[in-house]
Amino acid sequence: MDLAQVRQLFESLKGKIQTPRDLEKLRQTFLGKKGYVTQLFKELRNATPEKRRELGKLINALREEIDEFIKLKGEELKRKELEEKLKAERLDITLPGDTVLPIGSKHPLSAVIEEITEIFKQMGFSVETGPEVEKEEYNFDMLNIPKYHPARDMQDTFYVNEKGYLLRTHTSPVQVRTLLKREPPVQIIAPGRVYRRDDDPTHSPMFFQVEGLVVNESVSFANMVFVLKVFLRKFFEKDVSVRFRPSYFPFTEPSAEVDIGCVICSGKGCRVCKGTGWLEVLGAGMVHPNVLSACGIDAEKFRGFAFGLGVDRFAMLKYRIDNIKLFYENDIRFLKQFVSL
Ligand code: DAH
Repeated sequence: MDLAQVRQLFESLKGKIQTPRDLEKLRQTFLGKKGYVTQLFKELRNATPEKRRELGKLINALREEIDEFIKLKGEELKRKELEEKLKAERLDITLPGDTVLPIGSKHPLSAVIEEITEIFKQMGFSVETGPEVEKEEYNFDMLNIPKYHPARDMQDTFYVNEKGYLLRTHTSPVQVRTLLKREPPVQIIAPGRVYRRDDDPTHSPMFFQVEGLVVNESVSFANMVFVLKVFLRKFFEKDVSVRFRPSYFPFTEPSAEVDIGCVICSGKGCRVCKGTGWLEVLGAGMVHPNVLSACGIDAEKFRGFAFGLGVDRFAMLKYRIDNIKLFYENDIRFLKQFVSL
């Protein structure tokens, strides 16, 4: 092929280039080792010296032209590619967002705490709180649980490094805190987290309690029975039977454990109540005079009753949940079942 033919071929191929691959092929065809232009240069050897100069210039001009074309076309193709990519990945930021956002639900334990609180508020109780890292003195000593007294073993304690402090094992120290800062009459509940070295399907090392305390000049065991019966029947939304069994707590005397007729089998006997027909749901009693005195209250003049309940147990019974861990794993599939709370 002579120069004119090569130029003609180039002119006819130029317009057909669509992709970087086409362009590379074009380069090979003309400027590659065996390309037409390279070939023309080789053939120069056979020409006469005058012709060689003249022809050499012309071939060179063609080569530069092709070079320039490849450069410009390459840039154009790159630009086009980028434009197409941007177009494909385009985000329309004017599109409206999701109008229905997934709404979380109240945690069943929060719901139960609120419900318990509401019932007691209706009976004239107010809400107190205390710290989870508590003074050993408030958690034990001032509740009539002296050091080395076996009653401390009833609650396997997590101690913290600082001497004299622990993770409270119950909400009862809020009784002490309240009595230290307030003159009776006192009528409070204290919901909150408590900690014990305990771990099985019905026990978690961290769980929730609600404490109750009433102190005034005339309160009686009968008053306590009434308050707790009203509470239990409101909470379980039925006329549950309630039973008081004599028991022992260091901070109350006399002490009682409170059972309700099993809400699962209505007292017939089932797995949950272990065939007894009864479920233990509360600890309660008349505040021990030692507790009142320790808090600087005249135990001759004032009397009180107190109670403590496990929120997790109440929630498990109300919603028929057989593993306490479900409350703390926060699996969305579990929590979703409580959207209406
Ligand atoms: N503090 C007790 C516990 O955690 C529960 C309890 C029992 C609290 C009797 C009381 C009470 O206030 O009077 O096991």
